Amino acid sequence: MVADPTLRELEARILSCTDCRLHLSRKRAVPGEGPADASVMFVGEGPGFHENEQGRPFVGAAGKFLEELLEGIGLSRAEVFICNVVKCRPPGNRDPLPEEMDACAKYLEEQIRVVHPRVIVTLGRFSMARYFPGARISAIHGKSREIGGRMVVAMYHPAAALHQPSLRKDVQADFEVLRSLLSEAESQPETPPESSSDATQLNLF
Ligand code: URA
Repeated sequence: MVADPTLRELEARILSCTDCRLHLSRKRAVPGEGPADASVMFVGEGPGFHENEQGRPFVGAAGKFLEELLEGIGLSRAEVFICNVVKCRPPGNRDPLPEEMDACAKYLEEQIRVVHPRVIVTLGRFSMARYFPGARISAIHGKSREIGGRMVVAMYHPAAALHQPSLRKDVQADFEVLRSLLSEAESQPETPPESSSDATQLNLF
């Protein structure tokens, strides 16, 4: 459970959400977790088997690899905010459908507004498409773009690197980019939340 009252209230709404058909097959919704003032937010695709069982994001093999990557750049899981484009598991780990992502978009937008991270890292195709429509991950991974006063960087999903070990080096290099982005961001004054509406930006996509 998250400590911040606004995030807690959002979490309660997600846990009881019935806005798309994924609520019919979920065991537990997976709102996401992390500090309300995290500098970095990771946005994955959607809960898998283990996440659906435990109600927590990235707790399976991909999550373990994500934790290793974080440790590699001196961060711990407890310092970052981790969530997904859809908060309930698509049955059989199928891709989330457009209407499911649309129904869930309000929750991600609210999480971004509240946490107001300096850097958003997209993990996988669906979160990448929100910020980099039409892009190919092989072309843009590790490249950052400023959107609504924060940096957004697309990375391979950790599960992809587990299935394709040749991607591991790319993912590790992309985490070094994240390390630099965070230290750059920390040396600059923070943009006030009012002037960096991701909700506005996201509606453009
Ligand atoms: N993959 C995701 O995209 N999200 C999770 O929470 C777990 C695996």
